[in-house]
Amino acid sequence: MYDILIIGTGPGGYVAAIRAAQLGLKVACIEKSSIGGTCLNIGCIPSKSLLDSSLKHYQLQNDYEDHGIYAREVNFDLVKMMSRKQNVIEQLANGVGALFKVNKIDLINGKAKIKNINEVEVVGRNETFTLEAKNIIIGTGSKPNELDDLRFNGNIVDSEEALKFDRVPSELVIIGAGVIGLELGSVWSRLGSKVTILESQNEFLPFLGRRISRQILREFKNQGLNLELGCNIVEVLEEEKFISINYSQKGKELSLKAEKIILAVGRKPYVGDLFDEDLIMINEKGQIEVNEFCQTNQKNIWAIGDVVRGPMLAHKASEEGLMVVERIAGEETTLNYNNIPNVIYTHPEIAWVGLNEDQLKDQGVEFKSGSFPFLASGRALASGETVGSVQITANSNTDEILGIQVFGNSASEILQQGLIAMDNGITSTEFGKSIVSHPTVSETLLEASLAMNNKAIHIQNKK
Ligand code: NAI
Repeated sequence: MYDILIIGTGPGGYVAAIRAAQLGLKVACIEKSSIGGTCLNIGCIPSKSLLDSSLKHYQLQNDYEDHGIYAREVNFDLVKMMSRKQNVIEQLANGVGALFKVNKIDLINGKAKIKNINEVEVVGRNETFTLEAKNIIIGTGSKPNELDDLRFNGNIVDSEEALKFDRVPSELVIIGAGVIGLELGSVWSRLGSKVTILESQNEFLPFLGRRISRQILREFKNQGLNLELGCNIVEVLEEEKFISINYSQKGKELSLKAEKIILAVGRKPYVGDLFDEDLIMINEKGQIEVNEFCQTNQKNIWAIGDVVRGPMLAHKASEEGLMVVERIAGEETTLNYNNIPNVIYTHPEIAWVGLNEDQLKDQGVEFKSGSFPFLASGRALASGETVGSVQITANSNTDEILGIQVFGNSASEILQQGLIAMDNGITSTEFGKSIVSHPTVSETLLEASLAMNNKAIHIQNKK
């Protein structure tokens, strides 16, 4: 009998398995597809690989002349770009496989079905068998949403297919200006597609706060992404050589043609027929119902990652996996859901954590705020990456840092420093006392936190 059986080897499942092994628990992971789940195989990693390749191409064409570097006849080889992406995936998948071996984790190929609180049936390639466990962790992830009248069919595709196009679509329409829409829109636009993103909401990235989301919208439009807000898709017609998209916007009827459509309108939890409905509770959103410790209505069955409430992020899944395993081992690990960082890997990147100014106002919290533009950073100016700014907020009474939003080069890395401060209760005044290397882009966050307390050096402080 296993101490823990984990279903799914995504960043939730495989990380949980490694920690379980470290804690001396007998653990196995059941996987019906490739090791590493969505993130490694068809999500985070391949998208970042293509984002980086396409950015190099774009910058060589557009940004280097400023540095006095001229590259004439810039070309790219999509087949090579895709095979590099595949190599990155394989290298990482082999790495996870090797970690399983050294940690003595059993990897079981097959489709799992939870029979009861201690038994999981596995349908393998050649045989069906049952495994027993004291605890079961479900980490089966999520699947892309379709729309009622819009189904995936080869021309209308999801993010997985959009990371595998064998040629650059001349005209590409993306439905949904969320994380996937912006990242994939960036990839294909940089490689030459004419990209239009149709978003149903009137506000762009509303969770970031108006101040920074306006800056971001302006920059992406400058980069050539045609971003249309407040759009309602009326009809999609597949013609012989292209797809027609009829939509309405502000009372106008409009039309577009595209070679491909990427549907990026969110994802839904993936449970499949993993268990009978009377065994584990699912809520109206299709998520497995869990408490703050990721425990389902059955006390030895746990669920983590995209299949439960909360943001669909790889690192959130991993942290939940660690928490669950440590709790099974008798530790009292908890997770601070308020401080989960988010990143959109456009260029520049967008990264945020905690609450923004608009949310704090709505909640009636007394707060102070500071911001700092990348244009005023020596390091940003030297590298020619001056777009964007850093915003930070803190409680006016306690000085506790409440939220950080960064739009700029290396935003994902800059954010982490503020996050460490937030996690450890370091106040904005204490944070402002750190000695930060000069010149670095990290100074932007330091200066924003100084600005919040009227102590910024490289911009004028509020009166
Ligand atoms: P999303 O929730 O980020 O964005 C979906 C967008 O589609 C929203 O802006 C929504 O208003 C819009 N939308 C919904 N229905 C629509 C319609 N009928 N017409 C037009 N627009 C419509 O979801 P997305 O981008 O599909 O990503 C799915 C999940 O994957 C997200 O939870 C995201 O966090 C995660 N993810 C995270 C990444 C990262 O951390 N960098 C990268 C990729 C995905």
